Amino acid sequence: MLRFWTLEAGPWTLNMNAAVAPARRPIQTPPIPDSPFPYHPGSLLSVDDLALDEVSRILERATALDREDPLQRARILAKRRVALLFYESSTRTRTSFELAAKSLGADTTLISSLSSSIEKGESLKDTGLTIKALGAETIILRHNSSGAPWLLEEATRLPILNAGDGMHEHPTQALLDLRTILAHFDPQSRSCHPELSKNRHPERSRSAAQNGEVEGSAFPIVHVTADTLAGVTVTIVGDIQHSRVARSNMRLLPRLGGRVVLCGPPQLLPEIATQTGPGVSIERDFEAALRQSTVVMMLRIQAERLAGLQLDLDEYQAGYQLTGERLREFAPRALVLHPGPIIRGLELTAGVADGPQSAIVEQVRHGVAIRMAVVERALGAIPQKDRL
Ligand code: CP
Repeated sequence: MLRFWTLEAGPWTLNMNAAVAPARRPIQTPPIPDSPFPYHPGSLLSVDDLALDEVSRILERATALDREDPLQRARILAKRRVALLFYESSTRTRTSFELAAKSLGADTTLISSLSSSIEKGESLKDTGLTIKALGAETIILRHNSSGAPWLLEEATRLPILNAGDGMHEHPTQALLDLRTILAHFDPQSRSCHPELSKNRHPERSRSAAQNGEVEGSAFPIVHVTADTLAGVTVTIVGDIQHSRVARSNMRLLPRLGGRVVLCGPPQLLPEIATQTGPGVSIERDFEAALRQSTVVMMLRIQAERLAGLQLDLDEYQAGYQLTGERLREFAPRALVLHPGPIIRGLELTAGVADGPQSAIVEQVRHGVAIRMAVVERALGAIPQKDRL
């Protein structure tokens, strides 16, 4: 029996004066916004904003903050004000940003489109100005429209952290994915070791540091260069077209020397995707892609963004579901990632999600550390002389 997902949506515009912009399926990847105004130095709108030295700085701070004594850590942003403005649902990003800000001592407030005056028609601009007037010093924004964080920054001139904008970017997800990969990466063999997660658990690292133990050889790698990931192939599988996670990773990982292979059916992976930049290619045959993979990043089909696209789910699963058999046969050493939310039984089986090659839960944990570093950076808590 054929199963289809079909969703309809209306015209899509990015309109500062519209409360919640309706969505339609875009024809191609949105261009990188050409900003007419200087960004706030604490903003993180796109991975393109980060020089590699600054990526290193964030990784280094994430590790330092992760290991910091919680009472000391809570003084870093004591009583600073952080607002989370979410126009789309979220579990991982929202909670980890909130826990990250709170663990640095900040006061946080959540404004959700479903329980605020956004529902009554208030625009993004006016919502941002209101939050600023209430004393917020930074805004963490998730929005269904690509480019919304740039507009919010222009309106408020506050440091804005992009927590996912439409089908465009999710920069902190790419940073936490990178941290997860580096936690498993062996620079000598240029490969990832799924089993390293047990030895490189942040809790273990913290207690090791507190006990004065010398850390293991490579965790965590906090200094990255243009060849840190040379020889590493990260295969991103599934709904690339609608994925901001894929876009941020496709933009970041090749700058560290990694190769990104995109894999999926043409409806979810248009040929134009290879034009993202050097180091990005397409392999339609999943098993051929798996054979090359150091890391396999599975993606959810973004049902909420399909907008009329019909997809035969049985055919999709037959071609692209990551099963235990496929993993054992074609990528027995690869690290399995997924940004979540995962749909067990669709893009991957429960056995793979819970299996020894999976670092999916670990990714979530790295998210808190990365977001502590990014919130600290947004509020300029790092002494100016140390800023890149
Ligand atoms: N990865 C991610 O963005 O998950 P959430 O939608 O739950 O935040």
